[in-house]
Amino acid sequence: VREPDLAGRHVVVSAGGTREPLDPVRFLGNRSSGKQGYALARTAAARGARVTLVAANASMPDPAGVDVVPVGTAVELREAMLRAAADADAVVMAAAVADFRPATYATGKIKKKDDQEPAPIALVRNPDILAEISATRARSGQVVVGFAAETDDVLANGRAKLKRKGCDLLVVNEVGERKTFGSEENEAVVLGADDSETPVAHGPKEALAETVWDLVARRLE
Ligand code: C5P
Repeated sequence: VREPDLAGRHVVVSAGGTREPLDPVRFLGNRSSGKQGYALARTAAARGARVTLVAANASMPDPAGVDVVPVGTAVELREAMLRAAADADAVVMAAAVADFRPATYATGKIKKKDDQEPAPIALVRNPDILAEISATRARSGQVVVGFAAETDDVLANGRAKLKRKGCDLLVVNEVGERKTFGSEENEAVVLGADDSETPVAHGPKEALAETVWDLVARRLE
């Protein structure tokens, strides 16, 4: 049994994937299951932390002893994260956030009309929540962690993203068929702003979560 090294700490985790509505029945979404974020929330609670889990469209039961805040869109996720981050010791952005959302929302279902070309979907940029939380640091010494799914030049792209986002740690996953999304397992490298590099062997998402909390706990000491 692990010692409760996160006792007295408040940690905030986002999980799942945002859905950006086009009309009352349609949305732009992604394949994130929320499993990694839920594993992070469960393991942090087991290590004694007070945990807020901001869950975007994840269809899993609420983990015991975790404060779950359900959200749908990136804008809702941002609001919930900023509110919870105000007194957080650590913030982990494991959710897959849509980079763009439809520019307009149709209050009635969009109809297809015969002999008419499909209309293009205009998009606008969503806020970058991880970059904003990293730049703000609502509390001094707050540790901020991001996730990145990359398909190629994984480490180089990860390093560049860590810099761009301004977070302390970036968990870089290589994505491909049968890897990462919806899977029970994960394989990753955790990059640190201090130039550290922590490989995590292929294994359960809990194991990756424990490594993330090890690295966070060390930075909170
Ligand atoms: O830029 P990219 O989407 O690859 O970055 C992934 C990381 O940034 C994840 O931690 C994700 O939760 C976060 N993110 C965010 N806001 C966005 C897009 C991504 O916080 N609009």
